Amino acid sequence: MTMRTRSLGLTGPQVSALGLGCMGMSALYGGGDRAEGIATIHAALEAGVTLLDTGDFYGMGHNELLIGEALRTAPAARRQQALTSVKFGALRGPDGAWSGYDGRPAAVKNFAAYSLQRLGVDHIDVYRLARLDPDVPIEETVGAIAELVEKGYVRHIGLSEVGAETIRRAAATAPIADLQIEYGLISRGIEKSILPATRELGISITAYGVLSRGLISGHFTADRKLAADDFRAHSPRFQGDNLQHNLNLVEALRKIAGQKGVSVAQIAIAWVLAQGEDIVPLIGARSRERLAESLGALDVVLDAADLTAIEEVVPADAAAGERYAAAAMAHLDSER
Ligand SMILES: NC(=O)c1ccc[n+]([C@@H]2O[C@H](COP(=O)([O-])OP(=O)(O)OC[C@H]3O[C@@H](n4cnc5c(N)ncnc54)[C@H](OP(=O)(O)O)[C@@H]3O)[C@@H](O)[C@H]2O)c1
Repeated sequence: MTMRTRSLGLTGPQVSALGLGCMGMSALYGGGDRAEGIATIHAALEAGVTLLDTGDFYGMGHNELLIGEALRTAPAARRQQALTSVKFGALRGPDGAWSGYDGRPAAVKNFAAYSLQRLGVDHIDVYRLARLDPDVPIEETVGAIAELVEKGYVRHIGLSEVGAETIRRAAATAPIADLQIEYGLISRGIEKSILPATRELGISITAYGVLSRGLISGHFTADRKLAADDFRAHSPRFQGDNLQHNLNLVEALRKIAGQKGVSVAQIAIAWVLAQGEDIVPLIGARSRERLAESLGALDVVLDAADLTAIEEVVPADAAAGERYAAAAMAHLDSER
């Protein structure tokens, strides 16, 4: 199978049209099976996926070590095609508690030094601050990454969950390849001012939460027990009446998916793929089975009538509940 590719902005690399988000293999969705995670990365590379996304705070280094092992044990040709996208800056305690963000230039270089070691690579392909540090102008953080680019430790600069004004300031400082941000059928917030800004500036989107953390995958059920450290146990969209409302949307989507002979997850991913060549969905698969399902979305052709039918049953503001709990929302420059 030949994997389609998309460009990360005007200055970034060509990447597979779907990237693999590795977070759930280590943390935030109740942990993962390490061996299956590595097998999933190998299967993704074999299928032509080139973009591997992580954060240094996903399991506090666990995810980077896992990716490092997967890269070391992959065939050389696959390893050479792999591109790493790494987020930094989130501060957490040993109990996993979140305690802010650090975008100071000295911290940027320190974070990068550890990530290079854990990943076992001599450069990171796309490096980005996970959330804006309110105490550090974005120019300073981006400037520090630009220094890492000059020295060869980083190839491209990315952004994460920032709004149009910050995007413009960052782009005025150095070339920006992509903005990583939540985007999917029930998370359409970027369409108002963020997507127009990235399009004007030639910056791509790497979209996460395409399945709203599994909520609109077609596999999530109301009786699913979530561990206390599972993000979804505290996410407004997964609580009580909100959850039921959102799962009703999934059932409406399931009918359309059924008519097309595809799964709910595939139609949700295909919808994001259809929103523009500048958008690269990150797939949060942590097993080979889910990966195979996700990759099937690349073969789903949605015409204008399909897109209209989908948006009729899941309109832009259809979701019940914010995409993050209040404390986490407060850190989103993209929501200001
Ligand atoms: N920049 C940021 O702020 C930010 C935030 C969050 C994530 N990210 C990145 O984006 C990546 C993707 O985000 P996400 O994990 O929230 O994405 P997602 O695709 O919305 O959710 C992944 C969840 O969907 C479930 N799922 C069910 N069917 C699936 C299928 N066919 N394929 C994939 N998953 C399926 C998985 O559950 P099971 O494994 O239980 O089946 C998993 O829990 C992350 O891995 C991370 O790298 C970035």
